[in-house]
Amino acid sequence: ETGYFTFDPGFTSTASCESAITYIDGDEGILLHRGYAIQDLAENCDYLEVCHLLLRGELPNPQQKEDFERTITYHTMVHEQLSRFYSGFRRDAHPMAVMCGVTGALSAFYHDSTDILDPRQRMIAAHRLIAKMPTMAAMAYKYSVGQPFMYPRNDLSYAENFLYMTFGTPCEAWKVDPVLARAMDKIFILHADHEQNASTSTVRLAGSSHANPFACIASGIAALWGPAHGGANEAVLLMLEEIGSVERIPEFIKRAKDKNDPFRLMGFGHRVYKNYDPRAKIMRQTCYEVLDVMGIKDEPHLAIAMELEKIALEDPYFVEKKLYPNVDFYSGIILKAMGFPTSMFTVLFALARTVGWISQWQEMIEDPQQKIGRPRQLYTGNPGRAFVPLNKRG
Ligand code: SDX
Repeated sequence: ETGYFTFDPGFTSTASCESAITYIDGDEGILLHRGYAIQDLAENCDYLEVCHLLLRGELPNPQQKEDFERTITYHTMVHEQLSRFYSGFRRDAHPMAVMCGVTGALSAFYHDSTDILDPRQRMIAAHRLIAKMPTMAAMAYKYSVGQPFMYPRNDLSYAENFLYMTFGTPCEAWKVDPVLARAMDKIFILHADHEQNASTSTVRLAGSSHANPFACIASGIAALWGPAHGGANEAVLLMLEEIGSVERIPEFIKRAKDKNDPFRLMGFGHRVYKNYDPRAKIMRQTCYEVLDVMGIKDEPHLAIAMELEKIALEDPYFVEKKLYPNVDFYSGIILKAMGFPTSMFTVLFALARTVGWISQWQEMIEDPQQKIGRPRQLYTGNPGRAFVPLNKRG
């Protein structure tokens, strides 16, 4: 008993690893980071406090918070030569393709100074990644719209700095609405870590060979991009646009149930949650707050999303298969309202998840029992046959 619920450590039979970072109870819809409920963290912390918690195991005290913020702030600039990588991409390259490339390229700048067996150098690599992802993500957006890169500012918070580098320009003073900055920060918290999902497992597997952490995080970005995973937030918006009106929802519900139709309700269902994703509830509330502060009434995507959610949650098919909205269902509506193009949605997911990836990578490297990952298989191929020379093959 932990005071929250009867504690079940997880799936001992199918577990790919042991971890003390994040706990999910998919049946109860519970998500804890280092024992703290996601609801408490999202309501009472900022993203860098959650980063400190995931990375170092504890929420920071006021002095530790100040020190950690300073450390991250003073790593936000990227090597000036890294900015040249962007011009190698076509302007219309998907920003996730750019992020895979430039994050992997960080290895070229820090590989030889990152002895992963040195705890201090591991922590410096973690700080660099957490600090530079917003800068690189904003640069990917600026490059796509043909605007100049904006240097980070040390007087802004983490979320404000990202919004400034993304939407600010050298031509005019820039000011962000504190409600939007808080919403951005909360969205980062909701995406920070999520146990052994596909991209985190990719980072762990890549890291188990002792590849440098920058290359490992690049592998996580690649895995996250898929529409079945982090790419779902972009796919949800495209789906809502395809549905187009509340009247057309039944047509798409029917398609989602048709096994011969590849259509899936994006933002619905989860490998682990067979209950409401706790992050989706917080995201929906944040959506209402952002639209309200922006004075956006009758947002068309939200009307369709809410009706879709209502119908799906009452539909016996989805009830029986325990399909609920997940973290991606509402996030895209908020991001679009904040001015991000759909192509940037998964970039923001990758930005926020970097701390989870690097914390899980660090936990793996620090495990004295750690060995290289080497999954086995069930062989279903030919049991062995005599060789046939080329001139005898029919
Ligand atoms: C993320 O793992 C994580 O923690 C990931 C993540 C994180 O923070 O890292 O939470 C982030 O990736 C969230 C998920 C985002 N993806 C989407 O929203 C894409 C749409 N969802 C589906 O593609 C699907 O739900 C998956 C991929 C998420 C899970 O698919 P599974 O493994 O098939 O889910 P399941 O086994 O629970 O499905 C049960 C049944 C299956 O039908 P049957 O084989 O039993 O006949 O439900 C069906 C599925 O085909 N089903 C859906 C559906 N999701 C599952 N049917 C229609 N629409 C859907 N969205």
